[in-house]
Amino acid sequence: MVQLSIEEKSALVAGADFWNTVSAPGIRSIAVADGPHGVRKTQPTGEDFGLGASIASTCFPPATGLASSWNRELVERVGQALGDESRAQGIAVLLGPGINIKRSPLCGRNFEYFSEDPVVSGELGASYVRGLQSRGVGASLKHFAVNNQETNRMTVSAEVDERTLRELYLPAFETVVMREQPWTVMCSYNRVNGVYAAENHWLLTQVLRHEWGFTGAVVSDWGAVDDRVAALRAGLDLEMPGPVPDSKAALVVAAKASAVDEKLLDSSVERIRALVRRSAKDAGPAFDVDAHHTLARAAATESMVLLKNDGVLPLGQGKRVAVIGQFARSPRFQGAGSSQVNPTRVEPALDALMLRTPVDFAAGYGFGGYNEELHAEAVALAGRSDTVLLFVGLPDGDESEGYDRADLQLPSDQLALIADVTAANPRVVVVLTNGGVVSLEPWHDSAAAILETWLLGQAGGGAIAEVVFGEVSPSGRLAESIPLRLQDNPSFLNFPGDGDVVRYGEGVFVGYRYYESADVPVRYPFGHGLSYTSFEYDNLVVARDGLLASVTVTNTGSVAGKEVVQLYVAPPPSAVRRPARELRGFAKVHLEAGASTRVELALTRRAYSYFDVTTSDWVVEAGEYSVQIGRSAHEIVVEKTVALAGSRPTQKLTIESPVSEWLAHPVTGPLLRRFGGADSAEGGTSVLDMVGSMSMRRLMRFPDVPIKEAQMKALLLAANNPVVRGVAQLVGRKRPG
Ligand code: BGC
Repeated sequence: MVQLSIEEKSALVAGADFWNTVSAPGIRSIAVADGPHGVRKTQPTGEDFGLGASIASTCFPPATGLASSWNRELVERVGQALGDESRAQGIAVLLGPGINIKRSPLCGRNFEYFSEDPVVSGELGASYVRGLQSRGVGASLKHFAVNNQETNRMTVSAEVDERTLRELYLPAFETVVMREQPWTVMCSYNRVNGVYAAENHWLLTQVLRHEWGFTGAVVSDWGAVDDRVAALRAGLDLEMPGPVPDSKAALVVAAKASAVDEKLLDSSVERIRALVRRSAKDAGPAFDVDAHHTLARAAATESMVLLKNDGVLPLGQGKRVAVIGQFARSPRFQGAGSSQVNPTRVEPALDALMLRTPVDFAAGYGFGGYNEELHAEAVALAGRSDTVLLFVGLPDGDESEGYDRADLQLPSDQLALIADVTAANPRVVVVLTNGGVVSLEPWHDSAAAILETWLLGQAGGGAIAEVVFGEVSPSGRLAESIPLRLQDNPSFLNFPGDGDVVRYGEGVFVGYRYYESADVPVRYPFGHGLSYTSFEYDNLVVARDGLLASVTVTNTGSVAGKEVVQLYVAPPPSAVRRPARELRGFAKVHLEAGASTRVELALTRRAYSYFDVTTSDWVVEAGEYSVQIGRSAHEIVVEKTVALAGSRPTQKLTIESPVSEWLAHPVTGPLLRRFGGADSAEGGTSVLDMVGSMSMRRLMRFPDVPIKEAQMKALLLAANNPVVRGVAQLVGRKRPG
């Protein structure tokens, strides 16, 4: 292997330009492109970022839609198609998927992320990466980590406690890294607890490499590096874009002065070399444009969520319908920013509907504010029509990479249109187009049906027609809650923070974890979604100490459909505050009318545990857990209790442990109450309970405490020695009388 100089190595660890890496003797340059829901290979127009024009590629539904499919296999197929398109365009690494948690519905980039839940984000993220990398194209898992807002994204410090990081913001990354080994991970712009992600050794090295075993390269988000030497020390391999003369000079100086270990530079170079080695040398064959459009339509069909239906859907074929709303004619099918691709074609819903039925159309609104003429024409049309499909949603500029939204409302002219159209016609199907959640208030009750289509990619129009005419039963489920009011969202008071600090004060209580725990009503809960058929569950069995659940699902309706089996776990009373229930597994099944199937869901111990910050470990507490199957996070249909022994007693008791821990301990608790004469048989308060937060050492300094030093030492021995513990537990149980 050719020996490289410090100068050559320092040049290699940054880009050659916006989208290519540097070549050196024995190392080719490779090309990367955005991502995530299409390939955005920029045209050589002179505009480096290339937002205006890129080579045509299939625009699949962005993550907000795809996630609502809850369909791993479908997402994997989209990943494969993206891999084929990347290969065809000579792209070695596609910059996606984005798997940040939707902490607030206001995040301007929520359309690029999957869910408020780490299991949905991690599972679907893993499927995407598996599909993409199966084609010899690398993923760039982003944005690592805690990039949950666009406001001040380049500087803001996300202040998050470790339990919340471990339980909410890191697990999706952990799942994808441990299962799929993405070729690259992209660090985020923001700071995490004060330290830039790009310079965060704990994040990039301790957690990512040491704990999860990541072997790929860490890439910076575009322009995320502030101090290149600090970033190298933290574990950042490739700075993008490049070249960055200051970074190179700083690395050369630091390496020559031994201010940074040259071996770190060598490791980064090695990882970049490995990345280049696994990338294809030549572009692959042209991709099949028609087949990918068909796949984009299949994905779009499953990405919609039928929120409400009083029976108006599906529409009868051949009946005249009124289609109102500019979005039906000019669809908005992706979000703004770096992920915006140039589609191979676009299928407006209006065209697809007209292929099936006679249609009257009125635009209803433009995008320049209230338009009286368009409004009146649409309301008049609604008044003389049997059924209305009313397309409304967020205009392009309302949500984008780079900024957050200020509220959840649709534009006021569209709200006025909904009010007047629903007053003129009782059979209005509201078809929503939006990347992030929009409020369904105050008009929810006036609509006969509501179809949330999110952003559906280039084939969304055909997919909408298939669903409204009942050619396919809708099968999407919400991957995020729809609140009644923005103020109900748990991050409300702490989003987007004050200046450069955002405090994650709600902790692990994000989305439904909060609504279900605090009993706060929402308009539609996480997991909700209707279909044209119905499903029943029975015979839930939980086996192998809670590690395997199985349940029978039956399609009890009259048409075929897909059901998302959602498994939640509700914990017993705990030493820490835990969510009322958490999603721990899911599966999507297709069932013909009348058909049944048995669905098995494997769980791990993690499904029952919480992250204990005192021991820096996952803990399963002893107790009875409820394993639940729900139609949503709010509607549980069957449940089974499983009693687990728990991993708790392994925690060492010491003389410094608080009395409450001595009392809660299965060995010392019963004995202490007897020695200490603290039995509260009549249900009164015991003195020991009152001083629960005091350490045992301090308690024993009180006069007349009936626990002698020898007894305390014997208790410690009993608690911390497995053999003695067994005997003592027996003694403890033999209570007189
Ligand atoms: C975005 C990334 C994107 C990169 C390259 C950044 O601004 O945050 O998601 O991959 O630009 O376009």
